[in-house]
Amino acid sequence: MGLADDVLDGLTRPFKELPPKHLYDARGSELFEAICSLPEYYPTRTERALLVEHADTIVGDAAELVELGAGSAAKTRVLLDTGRVRRFVPFDVSPTALDETLAAEYPQLDVLPVTGDFEADLDRIPGGRAGFPRLVAFLGGTIGNFLPGTRRGFLRGLAGTLGPDGRLLLGAGLITDVDVMEPAYDDAAGVTAAFNLNVLSVVNAELGADFDLSLFEHVAFFDPVNEWIEMRLRARRAHTVRVAALDLDVPFERGEELRTEISTKFTRERLEADFASAGLVLDAWYEDADARFALAVARVG
Ligand code: SAH
Ligand code: TRP
Repeated sequence: MGLADDVLDGLTRPFKELPPKHLYDARGSELFEAICSLPEYYPTRTERALLVEHADTIVGDAAELVELGAGSAAKTRVLLDTGRVRRFVPFDVSPTALDETLAAEYPQLDVLPVTGDFEADLDRIPGGRAGFPRLVAFLGGTIGNFLPGTRRGFLRGLAGTLGPDGRLLLGAGLITDVDVMEPAYDDAAGVTAAFNLNVLSVVNAELGADFDLSLFEHVAFFDPVNEWIEMRLRARRAHTVRVAALDLDVPFERGEELRTEISTKFTRERLEADFASAGLVLDAWYEDADARFALAVARVG
């Protein structure tokens, strides 16, 4: 579904919602990069340290690296630096100038970028090459942004892309102290708030809506029942938003909250259960000393 259909569904639900893939326009992608270096946002640096420590074992005999939601592929360079990857397929909804930069940095590397929605377009991944075992990476805890049923369906789809001898490398946030998890999604400098509010600017620009960003505030909290961080935008007062392209008027009550994103935090058991439902088995598990983030390697079982 495109933005218009997503927004029409989301804004007419009893509990309003906007789908997260629209957070990443050019400005959103820039803000996300800024989030990654915030002192409160531990996932990026924790995951990078794990990649640095285990890159050789993780890459193993893989000659092809497919990365879903690659973004600027900043951490991926750690895997490319092992010198063993011959072909790199970065896959993202946001097209980037990644291929030129990487081609210059890694002259031996074949870079085949794919622009698409990883929920719908996995078939755009080019066919594998014989003798080029594939590693499919999905980093940054982005797996946590799916609802649980969707996540399992997604993993099932991914299992089908691994090919013979292929493996999946998944970066996942672990359940840790609420005082650590919540600030990562509600930083003191307000960068995450700006990122969250930016989705309203996307709807304004793409669908001629008149969201007034100053009428919404950023909310982020850990939901202990579902074990995820939930990101919302709360209306500061009652008002109605017009979405011209959909001929839609959307009333907000004072204090009404619109959900924009979830970020699920995992235990090893929960991830293994998800893998099992997708026909995958855990091959290796790496976590940091504080047990805040994990890299899981899985293969078809
Ligand atoms: N891998 C990077 C970026 C993570 S942010 C890191 O670990 O830091 C999530 C990335 O996934 C963004 O680059 C965003 O553009 C992309 N993305 C989000 N939803 C997507 C979708 N449905 N299909 C493809 N890419 C998506
Ligand atoms: N995949 C990231 C995560 O779950 C995405 C993210 C980080 C995010 N901060 C955010 C999404 C704030 C929405 C709002 O950690």
